[in-house]
Amino acid sequence: MIPYDNLAKVNEKYTLLFQSRFSSFLQKGWYILGEEVKRFQDEFAAFNGSRNCVGVANGLDALIISIIALELPSGSEIIVPSNTYIATILAILQAGHKPILVEPDLHTYNIDPNKIESAITKKTKAIIVVHLYGKCCEMEPIKIIAEKYQLPIIEDCAQSHGAKYKGKIAGSFGVFAAFSFYPSKNLGALGDAGAILTNDNQLAKKLMQLRNYGSDRKYYNEVIGLNSRLDELQAIFLQIKLPYLNMINDHKRKLAKLYLENLKKDFILPVVHEDYDDVYHIFNIRHPKRDAVRTYLQKKGIGTEIHYPVSPNRQKALISIVGHQTFPISEEIHATTLSLPISSCHTEADILYVIDALNAF
Ligand SMILES: Cc1ncc(COP(=O)(O)O)c(C=O)c1O
Repeated sequence: MIPYDNLAKVNEKYTLLFQSRFSSFLQKGWYILGEEVKRFQDEFAAFNGSRNCVGVANGLDALIISIIALELPSGSEIIVPSNTYIATILAILQAGHKPILVEPDLHTYNIDPNKIESAITKKTKAIIVVHLYGKCCEMEPIKIIAEKYQLPIIEDCAQSHGAKYKGKIAGSFGVFAAFSFYPSKNLGALGDAGAILTNDNQLAKKLMQLRNYGSDRKYYNEVIGLNSRLDELQAIFLQIKLPYLNMINDHKRKLAKLYLENLKKDFILPVVHEDYDDVYHIFNIRHPKRDAVRTYLQKKGIGTEIHYPVSPNRQKALISIVGHQTFPISEEIHATTLSLPISSCHTEADILYVIDALNAF
């Protein structure tokens, strides 16, 4: 049996270190916004070459807080890819604005830079890009458009820890970069956790207030904030795991290379291009008989996932917002995509087994 993922196995190697840090954490008795969060923030900022990192409770909040910190007029339009996890779109709504969905490129699955400009109106106040599946968006043309219209960029880096575009790391292109450390992410915590990167020191202060009831001094509240603090315990675990992130990404790249070099051409594979250094949070293939492929693999003891079975514009929660607009490219991706095992718990032998099974389909 090859499961899609096995988080217990992924995290096994950190157990002893975590147990010893957990004991001293208990003895210390400081549970909220202490040294551990501060230390992880410093280390994660350094990893990404960013001036500031602000730990928050999860990736959705990282996006919401980033949007709130831009202080846009309420009801502003924000450009967002139609092909994303729903969290990116929900964040815009939760912050009181209007998501304007833009279709992806059918090859990269990321927002199509050629379709952004025609979606911009006088009400457009920001662009959110999502580096989906571990591949950066085509940031050069997107930055040109953002500069032309003076629109701040927020990067959703939930799936792209350590990915690069033209040598620059994901999270270094926008005013803010929002990260999720949901357990299955390349850098995954033991529960919910997130962070925001920014090079702007003033904005970093605002983020710190916003995540903590709008306060930076106990019982004095400067702005209307949230309670969305990165947990000290999660920060300890993330400190332990961060030094392994490059290794985790390399392992995934090695497994991806096996798929890319050995899967038969009936399957549409992720594109590889010298401008992009992908981290394969997800390795997806596409096939017109996706569900049959999935059932067939299941029978062979191979677990897969679908990211995602329903495109955001088709979600019941969003129908009243999206209206009658159609998003054929997103829908095509969602109807045909299948995510294959590619976790740090998998060996090359596991992946060769999956490849053999798929090639016999
Ligand atoms: C692209 C994207 N954005 C945002 C999020 C939200 O992160 P979280 O689950 O930590 O709130 C996720 C989580 O899966 C995601 O994949």
